[in-house]
This record gives sequence, structure tokens and C-alpha cells, in this order.
Amino acid sequence: MEKTVQLYEGKAKKVFATADETLCVVSYKDDATAFNGLKKGTIVGKGVVNNRMSNMLMQLLEKQGVPTHFVKELSDRDTLVKKVAIVPLEVIIRNVSAGSFAKHYGVEEGIVFDEPTIEFSYKNDELGDPLLNSYHALALKLATKEEIETIKRLAFKVNEVLTEYFKTLKIRLVDFKLEFGRLSDGTIVLADEISPDTCRLWDIETNEKLDKDRFRRDLGGVEDAYKEVFKRLMGE
Ligand code: TMP
Repeated sequence: MEKTVQLYEGKAKKVFATADETLCVVSYKDDATAFNGLKKGTIVGKGVVNNRMSNMLMQLLEKQGVPTHFVKELSDRDTLVKKVAIVPLEVIIRNVSAGSFAKHYGVEEGIVFDEPTIEFSYKNDELGDPLLNSYHALALKLATKEEIETIKRLAFKVNEVLTEYFKTLKIRLVDFKLEFGRLSDGTIVLADEISPDTCRLWDIETNEKLDKDRFRRDLGGVEDAYKEVFKRLMGE
């Protein structure tokens, strides 16, 4: 399935139409941004890692009963996906304190929670992706009650599957962000990506950060961290 016109360009990916109006091609870039686009850079090879990693994890999740947008990997950077209308919610699951959680609540990073947490932000760059709860999401008509219930259930399921899987790779899944979309018949599926851009991944023994925090916080070794995760996942 060939890509035709470009429908959309985001910060890390482009989306193209195809001859089949139910399918799109997502094309992963090496561009990296942080702090709502204020910090810009390039992570060489990131597009390949994020594309292939995301596809691998989405296929694993499908097998465990989580519906996703994934159809077929077309190349190192391009993937055929089901066309969705993205639900404008960023769904964040946390297993360990880090990032904005540590900052908001004045705690150190690395506290392991007894139970995972879930939070939503309104996916809106102009507003800076403000945090909201499910009542706010309903008030703003971002999703229905049933959709929010489905999204919560699927997000926790993703956490269970991925936490166990990353453990086998000696990686701690600290937290991550998911996005969901609606197919034309209204079915909710997991969309967007699952990658070191959207997850915090720490080495289980050393707690070394193997994710985009190396870019956000100028820690150096950004490309090597993405390569290390890729190597553990793919054995390459
Ligand atoms: P946070 O601690 O900055 O709120 O981030 C929580 C998780 O969400 C972390 O794994 C990184 C991911 N994330 C994104 O994927 N996109 C974003 O724009 C932000 C702010 C975080």
C-alpha cells in the first residue's frame, strides 16, 4: 500500500493517506522536541527505533487482547495503520515516581507505587496539554463515559503486559503515555506509538535512563540509549 498525500505532520511523525480510505501510512522522523516544542533537536536513528519498537509492542499487545491501529510494517520508518480519529487525551500510567509526578507532589524519583496511577491530559499544544480528570473530559465532550471506561481498562492492560515484557529485558517500565483512536465504526483502538519517546525506561539493575529523558535533561548518550533498548528488544 503506497502513501499518497500527506495528511498531517506532527513533531515526531508524518501521516499520509493511501488509496484505501480506511488506512494511513505513518512515517517516523528523527526530530525530537521537548517542553511543548520549546527544545528542538535530532536523535539520529530514532525514527527507525521508534517505528520498529512500536510495531513489535503493538503486535504483542494485540495477541494479549488489546486492539491497536497496527496493520503492517512497510519499511524501517513507515508503517501501515488503520485510520483513526485520535481521542484528544494523553493517557499516562505510572508505576514509579518520576518527571512531572515527582515535581508536582514534591517527591524524589524512583518511589515504587503499590498500584499504578492513571491520569489524563487534554491533547492540545496551544494550551500546553493541561491535566484533566475524566469528568472534565466528559464536560469538554472529548470522549463518552463508555469510551473513557474502555480507555482506562485498556491502558491498565497495556501496563500489565508491557511491565512483564520489559522485565524480561531487564528494563523497568517507570511510566508511559498512550493515545487512543476511534475507527469509523466507533471502536476504540490503541494508536500513536510506544517508544523511548513516550515511555520512561530504566535499566532494572542500575536505574540508568534509557529513554527521552536523556534528551530532555541533556544527559548525553541519547542515541546510545535508544540503540540499547532496541538491541534488548530485537536482539540486534
Ligand atoms: P511526565 O512525567 O513529564 O508527565 O511524563 C509522563 C510520561 O509521558 C513519560 O513517560 C513521558 C511521556 N510523555 C510523552 O510521551 N509526551 C509528552 O509530551 C510528555 C510531557 C510526556
